[in-house]
Amino acid sequence: VPLQQANTFGIMAKALTLVRVSSEADIAAVLQDAGLRVQPKFVLGGGSNIVLTGDVKPLVLKVEIMGKRLVSETAKAWIVEAGAGENWHDLVTWTLQMGYPGLENLALIPGTVGASPVQNIGAYGVELQDRFESLDAVDLSTGQPFTLNAAQCAFGYRDSVFKHASKPGEASGAQGLGLAEKALITRVRFSLPKPWKPVLGYADIDKKMLQSRVSAPSALQIYEWICDIRRAKLPDPQLIGNAGSFFKNPTVSAEQCADIIQRDPKIVHYHLADGSVKLAAGWLIDACGWKGKSIGNAGVYDKQALVLVNRGGEANPVTGGEVMTLAKAIQTSVYERFGIRLEPEPVVV
Ligand code: EPU
Repeated sequence: VPLQQANTFGIMAKALTLVRVSSEADIAAVLQDAGLRVQPKFVLGGGSNIVLTGDVKPLVLKVEIMGKRLVSETAKAWIVEAGAGENWHDLVTWTLQMGYPGLENLALIPGTVGASPVQNIGAYGVELQDRFESLDAVDLSTGQPFTLNAAQCAFGYRDSVFKHASKPGEASGAQGLGLAEKALITRVRFSLPKPWKPVLGYADIDKKMLQSRVSAPSALQIYEWICDIRRAKLPDPQLIGNAGSFFKNPTVSAEQCADIIQRDPKIVHYHLADGSVKLAAGWLIDACGWKGKSIGNAGVYDKQALVLVNRGGEANPVTGGEVMTLAKAIQTSVYERFGIRLEPEPVVV
């Protein structure tokens, strides 16, 4: 089964076997099938945060569980539930149209609802964990459904229990330890706090406020600004293949940051509550001169150095190997100049 349309980089790779699952019953059928149940499994959502470096040998489960609904409304929050196969941005748009604001800062992030907790998506001061209620999943080894709350998901910066393998002998599943390759997320519930309060304070948003002279923006206004900001600096995967930010923003100690500032006074950095300092990986890569450069068909996007892109388009697509070669070259030059190891953000398959 070709996967070129199923990953936003547009990398040409195949799945040996692919099954589309649109309900819990479909998952149960796979897990009861004598041939399929024993195979290792790979769960695929929108394919917007993966780099395929070859054909995928595990059984690919393409999640297409749909549905969005208001579960309940209290004085404190709207609780909204969506199927894992729903498109993330469509969910954000729908909640705003229905009058349940709170996800607007996360507009236009590619991918599916089911993938959103895996890497704890975040943008413009809001992370998924700030709006998360709970999720339903199925343990792929036992077929048991289970529910996790936020604490059990162990959210971190672009991180969760779903990105970590369990150690041998460690319990998994409902215990919530190391669920990579072990669980399939079926539904996610969001808690959108009442009364709604805008999350502002990001330079890009402040600029929009000044330009438009709107001082008390509505959720819909913020949604439109975020869509504008993202369209201006992030490539649309429909037009230029990519997987969003390719590296995480690294965190360094205050001493290490002071040392770098001495040599590079312009470095973009943010002080965190715990005393450490977050650096803008895009700035580091840009400072090493990578913006607009390519290796083979893998390129560094010209408007945002943190994004690697497919320069070969659909006809002559980049390979996962080229993407990883470029990524390693970037890591090496950032390490040589700043002494900082950049960590890839997407899942390398
Ligand atoms: N910068 C440069 N040169 C570049 C790119 C960035 O100098 O080529 C500077 C910018 O001028 C800015 C700073 O670096 O001062 C940060 O850039 P930006 O505001 O674009 O955000 P980012 O840190 O690069 C992060 C997330 C994005 C998210 C934005 C907005 C990560 C890895 N990335 O990017 O998330 O949309 O903030 O909140 O945390 C993603 O994870 O896939 C993603 C796109």
